[in-house]
Amino acid sequence: MASLNPRKIVVFSGSGVSAESGLPTFRDSGGLWRQYAWEEVASPEGWRKHPEVVQAFYNERRHLAAAAQPNAAHRAIAALQQFFEVVVVTQNVDDLHERAGSARVVHVHGELAYARGEHSGLRQRVGAEPIQMGQLCAKGSQLRPDIVWFGESVQHFEESKAHIAEAGRLLVVGTSLSVFPAASLVHAAAASADKVVVAFELDSPPDGFDWLRGKATECVPQVVARWLEEAARA
Ligand code: NAD
Ligand code: APR
Repeated sequence: MASLNPRKIVVFSGSGVSAESGLPTFRDSGGLWRQYAWEEVASPEGWRKHPEVVQAFYNERRHLAAAAQPNAAHRAIAALQQFFEVVVVTQNVDDLHERAGSARVVHVHGELAYARGEHSGLRQRVGAEPIQMGQLCAKGSQLRPDIVWFGESVQHFEESKAHIAEAGRLLVVGTSLSVFPAASLVHAAAASADKVVVAFELDSPPDGFDWLRGKATECVPQVVARWLEEAARA
């Protein structure tokens, strides 16, 4: 059992942390899975059936994410690094945490800024650029978004679980905790850790968490101010 590190904070985030930057969530009203069938655009079956539809879906999301700006929640999370060792474990595929200044970000569902060969698995950075059909990796394999689709294996799971298990503080923000196994990560937190979740709605709030039911840009800075004050007094 890893020993608890009071100076370590893990932030586990979902699409709600980027909502006020103008990026859609998935299951809220107006969410992506209210507009699109995830089976068609976020699954290996969809890619096999119509890769150009999947490519266009992610090219549009990559374009929107590149145009978005980090918000006060992303910036507050980055500010924690003044006094704490901070690891951000995110289900998000945008790079708003990085652009706000978070130095250690683990993406469990992949990243829009990267592509990989559909057969070679060779990963390459595309930044904000669209991926075209016919665009190949260095080994001649069609480039696809480097995103974890439904039915594919989540990335960096054990690493993320280990970070959470030793964190003295865990902040969960902007996720409905409805997609597994990513959502199960919150249960790796120590009973004695300071645990806070920020979200408007949660079907089943995790045990032992303080639940702040409000906007990430309002609630996250409040939590960060409290933790920074505690650190300054310690
Ligand atoms: P899942 O079945 O694990 O999803 C968990 C829960 O979410 C299930 O109860 C399911 O009913 C529900 N769910 C799944 N997709 C949904 C959707 N689009 N809208 C509403 N509810 C939905 O998903 P899975 O197919 O078993 O995926 C398992 C693997 O796929 C995991 O590794 C996961 O990380 C990955 N994944 C990737 C994405 C993505 O869009 N990148 C999304 C979810 C899961
Ligand atoms: N402030 C705080 N919380 C918010 C805000 C906001 N401004 N806007 C939305 N939320 C909350 C909602 O209350 C909800 O609990 O964010 C959560 C968004 O949940 P989902 O739409 O389910 O998104 P997420 O949890 O990130 O989905 C997980 O599912 O399809 C996959 O790969 C996709 O990574 C994604 C995963």
